[in-house]
Amino acid sequence: MVTSLPSIPPTFALGVCDYPEHVPWEQWRHYPDRQRELSITYVRIAEFAWSRMEPREGEFDWTWLDDAVQVLADADRLIVMCTPTATPPAWLIRKHPEILPIGKDGNVRNFGSRKHYDHASPIYREHSRRITKAVAVRYGQHPAVAGWQTDNEWGCHSTTRSYGGASQTAFRSWLERRYGTLEALNVAWGNVFWSQEYTDWGQIDPPNHTVAEPNPSHVLDFARFASDMVNEFQAEQVAILRELSPGRWITHNYMMQFMEFDHYANCEGLDFASWDSYPLGQVERAPLPDTEKLRWARTGHPDLISWNHDVYRGLKGRRAFWVMEQGVGQVNWAASNCLPAAGAVALWTAQAYAHGASCVSYFRWRAATIAQELMHSALLRHDETLDRGGEEVGGLELPGRVNADVPARVALLHDYESQWVYDVQPHSQDASYVRQAMLFYGVLRSLGVDVDIRHPDHDLSEYDVIVAPALQLMGEKRARHLARYAGTCRLVFGPRTAYRTPTGRVHEDGQPGPLRGLVGHRLLNFDGMRPGLTVRAGGHVVESWAESYEPVGADVLMTYDDGPLAGQAAVTRHGNALSVGAWSETLLESVLTRVLTEAGVAVMPLPEGVRVSRNGRAEVWMNFNQEPATLPDGSTIGPVSYQIRG
Ligand code: GAL
Repeated sequence: MVTSLPSIPPTFALGVCDYPEHVPWEQWRHYPDRQRELSITYVRIAEFAWSRMEPREGEFDWTWLDDAVQVLADADRLIVMCTPTATPPAWLIRKHPEILPIGKDGNVRNFGSRKHYDHASPIYREHSRRITKAVAVRYGQHPAVAGWQTDNEWGCHSTTRSYGGASQTAFRSWLERRYGTLEALNVAWGNVFWSQEYTDWGQIDPPNHTVAEPNPSHVLDFARFASDMVNEFQAEQVAILRELSPGRWITHNYMMQFMEFDHYANCEGLDFASWDSYPLGQVERAPLPDTEKLRWARTGHPDLISWNHDVYRGLKGRRAFWVMEQGVGQVNWAASNCLPAAGAVALWTAQAYAHGASCVSYFRWRAATIAQELMHSALLRHDETLDRGGEEVGGLELPGRVNADVPARVALLHDYESQWVYDVQPHSQDASYVRQAMLFYGVLRSLGVDVDIRHPDHDLSEYDVIVAPALQLMGEKRARHLARYAGTCRLVFGPRTAYRTPTGRVHEDGQPGPLRGLVGHRLLNFDGMRPGLTVRAGGHVVESWAESYEPVGADVLMTYDDGPLAGQAAVTRHGNALSVGAWSETLLESVLTRVLTEAGVAVMPLPEGVRVSRNGRAEVWMNFNQEPATLPDGSTIGPVSYQIRG
């Protein structure tokens, strides 16, 4: 069941991000009434407003924020209040320049935008706690404050990792705590290779500025460390908010495509996850060929968007989530910033509802008339007239609909550590963790299947099919955990499964190490193909990656037809465990159709650009094409639109 949250009604609501500090008061004070006219319930404020809250150290000015909170409360709007730590003010940085982060290039990342801090900095931690406490004391018990957002988008502008200063010192202590002795660390990382062995903790630096590629185990542990720093930073704020703002929920607005910290661990102390959805900017930045970017330039890519909905629904089990920032037009940060097609904002909102969001909050109320984001869209234009996206929001019939369970019977396994280590050594220029995971996810969605995205170590007993596209890290414990499901459920493993131990080495008995008993094969060879080079397996074209297996108990379902792996197994099956070694959409379609059908999960091949998702008994049909499409029942759906049945 989607767990409903304390103090959030189980109905779908709308929200908006607004910035009272950006607008003259005489103008701003009318906004909450206009927001009510658009059925907007929640208003998020103050995530970047530190310099207005505390213009000089210890001198607080709450008058403007008190007034804004009061006007919102008078208009019956509910407030999402934020900790403003994404933007340490100039006076603080001038006093403590050591707060600033160090980029991978070794340069200090300076004041003048946002997110200019190192999460490991003890001085910044102290100020973060201090300002969090001050905001929480002031507003934590205000009846209009419904909940909190911590900071803004962990990892934004590649800020999870700082390659020096406070992080450098903290990394050494973190390693000492993890390994206890340098001997253990040297073994875990395989430091005898190229004489990388350390004899003192002080010799260990972050993995940048090396002559050749750094040791992948070193990179993996640095990624883990940096992720832990973000999580600790947040946990300190959460502890303060829990104490000073009882009964309110706490969330964080994760950003699509920021993968440098472990969101599962980060979300542990929160009540629910939120994420920021900018479908057009997302397409521009996605690892997609140009033809695909063109195709989805005005609608966003349906599966890239819903991947995020499904990730955030799954972070804490199956739980309602929010879209905290939903783009309503063009962004300002992509290489090109297109306008969306008519209908796209309404379609994105319906898609969020269909995947279990309990609130979609738009970014932002009025277009900024100042600074970095003055070319970014909003619900209102600069002149305060309703813009195209605002008109679509005004026409929605979604607010108030019951938000029920997404009845997924298929889990797709996703973990950040496997991604970090995969992407250190992709081994084929087109391969990446995201592309491989999206290949499996896209095929499932194109077959009309609802998918829960879950961590491999979660309890997975409620599923009939478990798909693990790129589960690269495998220890004994994880292997035992997965084997538990083989009696009751079908498992599908993708290429590079169990390539490495949890510290990033290869298992001494080769791949797939402790998973061999479950999959019933051993890895023979892998082929990281250059763009344009293909082989065939079972008649299907394979690109980028092909690996072959020798059965040790498994049956061979498909072999390679040609190329260096000709005659060797590309797909094996051992009881309920199926392994696919080749990157091929059509091959996957045929394998997954068979597995799903055997498991009794209904398969319904959909036309390109058409998707269906279920929320309780409601079926939401969505057409991301800019032309009408025919649905499997023969009816027609208009361009860039949705239909809700039930
Ligand atoms: C988000 C960010 C917002 C705003 C927006 C513009 O990533 O959280 O503050 O910058 O991008 O698209």
